[in-house]
Amino acid sequence: MSILIKAGRVLDPSTNTDEIRDILISDGKIQKSAVNITDSADEVIDASGCFVMPGLIDLHVHLRDPGLEYKEDIESGSRAAVKGGFTTICPMPNTKPVTDCKEVVCYVKEKAEKVGLLNILPVGAVTKGQAGNELTDIEEMKTAGICAISEDGKSVMNAQIYRAAMKEAARLNVPVFAHCEDITLVAGGTMNLGEKSKQLGQKGISNSVEDVITARDILLAKETGAMLHLCHCSTKDSAKMVKAAKEDGVRVTAEVCPHHFTLCEEDIRENDGNYKMNPPLRSREDMEALRQGLHDNVFDVISTDHAPHSSEEKMGGFEKSPFGIVGSETAVALTITELVDTGIITPMQMAEKMSWNPARILGIDKGSLAEGKTADIVIIDPCAEYCIDISTFVSKGKNTPFHGRKVRGKVLRTIVAGKTVYQV
Ligand code: DOR
Ligand code: ZN
Ligand code: ZN
Repeated sequence: MSILIKAGRVLDPSTNTDEIRDILISDGKIQKSAVNITDSADEVIDASGCFVMPGLIDLHVHLRDPGLEYKEDIESGSRAAVKGGFTTICPMPNTKPVTDCKEVVCYVKEKAEKVGLLNILPVGAVTKGQAGNELTDIEEMKTAGICAISEDGKSVMNAQIYRAAMKEAARLNVPVFAHCEDITLVAGGTMNLGEKSKQLGQKGISNSVEDVITARDILLAKETGAMLHLCHCSTKDSAKMVKAAKEDGVRVTAEVCPHHFTLCEEDIRENDGNYKMNPPLRSREDMEALRQGLHDNVFDVISTDHAPHSSEEKMGGFEKSPFGIVGSETAVALTITELVDTGIITPMQMAEKMSWNPARILGIDKGSLAEGKTADIVIIDPCAEYCIDISTFVSKGKNTPFHGRKVRGKVLRTIVAGKTVYQV
């Protein structure tokens, strides 16, 4: 099966290509990339007016499988991801049981292969059962196929244990994905500490909850030489610290999620659990700092933190709902609408932050549209206008604050290893 993609705006950070071109795919690979390809193909796609990017890579999703399949499972999460333009995703280990040993890693990998829609690279836990006490066998999990370690959902509060984990991760060349949250400072908070939490009578989560651990983790990465990737940065001081750490030569990268660059606490109108996530929507000033940091490439990655929950669970308002919102099916539109259309980042930066940089962090041969590479490709119409509608979601999770929001940017087709796995 060969596919010829005609006249798309090819955005390839690996070769610094941004021009109208054709791409010929066959045998699962990019055979040719040139201004006018005249070869015949089984299928010809007219991509005029569209972005053609390397398949998107989401470093941060929750597939809830094993154990919490009523929220999402590997199949529904895979379908949501390819609909969102992703060709590789990294599911976090806060499953039930926790992904903390080779058996669970193998379960995820095998089920992912059976579903067979996209590349799924599991993240292994830092401590057994994410209980914070005893290190997992990182080497064993690496052999089984993890791409990184993380305690996502919480921080490893014991710095001695975390430092040991970082040393081991550095030795094995495994990246550490950090969820920065000082649990002792959270004190039952449900939303950002500020005007809105006062107004709604909610307990607040101060910026220091994130910032204290961000600082600690950067210092531990500096000491151990570990590759540290900071998940879902939400504060202006995180941006400052990441910038300073990079200038200092620390091996640190950082991500921002679409909800944190799109919304701030002012956008929360009522006690609606669909606005509850961790870290929370911060102040306008924080949101602006994240946008600036994305522009300046202080932030390397846009990831979703796709965190599906059931509608019943999310009915509990800020007090009772679990933290988290879905993101796989809205990330492209929010990035184009909020960052590209506004001139905060270029389409090339979008390809960098959603594909090329994640691939570099994982150390995998992806994120490129160069000839000879595996044909993981997404075709996006950046001008398609529509309203986000949860009834169109294929994820089991409908928990989003973006239902009804007018956006631009639609994934038209997702290709994994030369095979179309999603098309409108
Ligand atoms: O909002 C969140 N939801 N943040 C996290 O860190 C965990 C995630 C989840 O697992 O639901
Ligand atoms: Zn997290
Ligand atoms: Zn997460």
